[in-house]
Amino acid sequence: MCEKCKGKYYITTPIYYPSANLHIGHAYCTVATDTMARYKRLQGYDVLFLTGTDEHGQKIEDKAKEAGVTPQQFVDNIVEGEKGVLDLWKLMNISYDRFIRTTDDYHVAAIQKIFKKMYDNGDIYKGTYKGKYCKPCESFWTESQLVDGKCPDCGREVQDAEEEAYFFRLSKYADRVQDLLENTDFLEPRSRVNEMVNNFIKPGLEDLCVSRTSFTWGVPVDFDPGHVVYVWIDALFNYMTALGFENDKYDNLEKFWPADVHFVGKEIVRFHSIIWPAMLMSLDLPLPKKVYGHGWLNFNGEKMSKSRGNVVDPYLLSERFGVDALRFFLLRTFPFGSDGNFTNELLMGTINTDLANTLGNLVSRTVAMNQKYFAGSLTEGGESAPIDAELKALAAEVFAAYEQKMDKFQFSAALNEVFRLLDRANKYIDETTPWILAKTEESKPRLLTVMKNLCECIRVSAILLLPFMPETSEKIFDLLNVPANARTWEASCYCADEAAVWNTVVGAPLFPRLDVEKELAALEELSKANQKPAVEIEPYAEENVDFDTFCKSDFRAVKVKDCQNVKKSNKLLQFTLDDGTGTDRQILSGIAMYYKPEDLIGKTLVAITNLPPRKMMGRESCGMLLSAVHTVNGEEKLNLIMIDDAIPAGAKLC
Ligand code: MSP
Repeated sequence: MCEKCKGKYYITTPIYYPSANLHIGHAYCTVATDTMARYKRLQGYDVLFLTGTDEHGQKIEDKAKEAGVTPQQFVDNIVEGEKGVLDLWKLMNISYDRFIRTTDDYHVAAIQKIFKKMYDNGDIYKGTYKGKYCKPCESFWTESQLVDGKCPDCGREVQDAEEEAYFFRLSKYADRVQDLLENTDFLEPRSRVNEMVNNFIKPGLEDLCVSRTSFTWGVPVDFDPGHVVYVWIDALFNYMTALGFENDKYDNLEKFWPADVHFVGKEIVRFHSIIWPAMLMSLDLPLPKKVYGHGWLNFNGEKMSKSRGNVVDPYLLSERFGVDALRFFLLRTFPFGSDGNFTNELLMGTINTDLANTLGNLVSRTVAMNQKYFAGSLTEGGESAPIDAELKALAAEVFAAYEQKMDKFQFSAALNEVFRLLDRANKYIDETTPWILAKTEESKPRLLTVMKNLCECIRVSAILLLPFMPETSEKIFDLLNVPANARTWEASCYCADEAAVWNTVVGAPLFPRLDVEKELAALEELSKANQKPAVEIEPYAEENVDFDTFCKSDFRAVKVKDCQNVKKSNKLLQFTLDDGTGTDRQILSGIAMYYKPEDLIGKTLVAITNLPPRKMMGRESCGMLLSAVHTVNGEEKLNLIMIDDAIPAGAKLC
């Protein structure tokens, strides 16, 4: 380890379930983890920040089927596709060091070895599972765990389930896990300990069903075909396989395990604080130092979720207000351990109060006054007054308190400290009245010191804000021309003595004040425009058609010579078509609800011409016109296939 290095720090977020695109609730935990990772790096720790995606399970298999793609294609699209998981983390400036996907080969192979190890040591055994299953949560429950007969996590209906399955001897570890929770700081905040012990351990911890036979999209149990490993076993071990546990892909286990902290949402504390340590105990592995269960970001009092339709789009908010403002808002407004209610008004209020008024104004007033009174250049010299010492003492106090709060993951309290200093600096301007000092030559030395103190206050605050708003802090440093070595944690000690010099520049406001009414209306418009229509496509045919049979279909370009409604039918259109043979072809098509006949005359369409003729409403139809069908927001749509008019009538399409 290098001399300057303070040691290692391994921090993780839950790996996301890519069943739909992420919303601001998902971003909440990742922004917090990123802030912590940046803070530790700033302090000189060798940080490994892991995130990723949890890609197996029945829900993914079902959703892929619905979408007519393979499960792998389905998850690839959500992870790597446009506005997918990777795009979102890039947008939110998430500085992860490693990204794991549970479909990565090295992880899959490692999970098989891990499962076999626990089978070999007797902690995994074969039995029959009888109980209740919540499909959306992929969770098995016992009767006693249900709330009003429904899933205790999501409140939805559960189904009876019975299958041959493998079980993990969770009950064997009940006492050790209870001791871990009650007598150490393993799980925080403390309130979550009572919840775990009273709701799950004390009623009796039953063995956990850890394999499934009812679907195939999972890690296969290699010694018993037909079984796949329970998705939570597969998912939890990501924290170790991503370091090289049971694989050769990475070699960081010795250095980084045990994890310093796993940040997790409150509904998955159970998996991380009971099942996870029990499995590690089974394998005789060191336990993570801490699990921190944060609260939910709610919307109108309910947890955000796609199925409730109350998700807030982080793309839209970042585009409108900036990524840093959004990052800041999430951690400034809601204490990390508790639930918070997201509203657009609250977001804009925070931006206006803290970022535009307190921080933004302080910076712009300071650089503007430097410019006006000293042409931006604060030279050596000056004259101090007792009030300067007050500012300096407060900076030291704030620094110590900030560190203490950050180390306890109290992000909003740490930011409160920074804003204590910024507020004080704004007040210092009112108290020292630089505009009056500027009036006479003899008060110029005093004015010089006042401006230096303000610059120093801003510089120190910008260091403390670096983990939260990295881009904004850098912008501030640039306005103040702070050298690289004074943008560091080591340089966060307040120093505004006579020797200090500054060269500042005036820039655009950091956070322009928002007109809340106007912004709310604009957001409304944008979110309407951004709402992607829910397109449903027909399921793909499961049966293959052999190539020769397919080639027998005769597809031709046909030109519409005439098109009429069929009397007494509100569905049928009668087409007279030029098919290149010199004799008109008549085709009837049930598309009158979608097209006006006159709009189709002259168009080049595609017809299958070798279907046996059919009679409809007493008229003969010789072939079929091709069209595309799909459903948008529940409404059926149809578009005739129209091709380039340069293609001559009768051209064979193959
Ligand atoms: N795949 C599991 C985690 C496995 S970790 C070994 C999972 N994935 S998830 O995508 O459903 O959720 C990921 C994280 O996002 C969870 O910690 C969850 O609590 C968090 N959040 C999802 N919606 C949230 C809010 N509305 N508010 C705060 N956090 C939320 O669980």
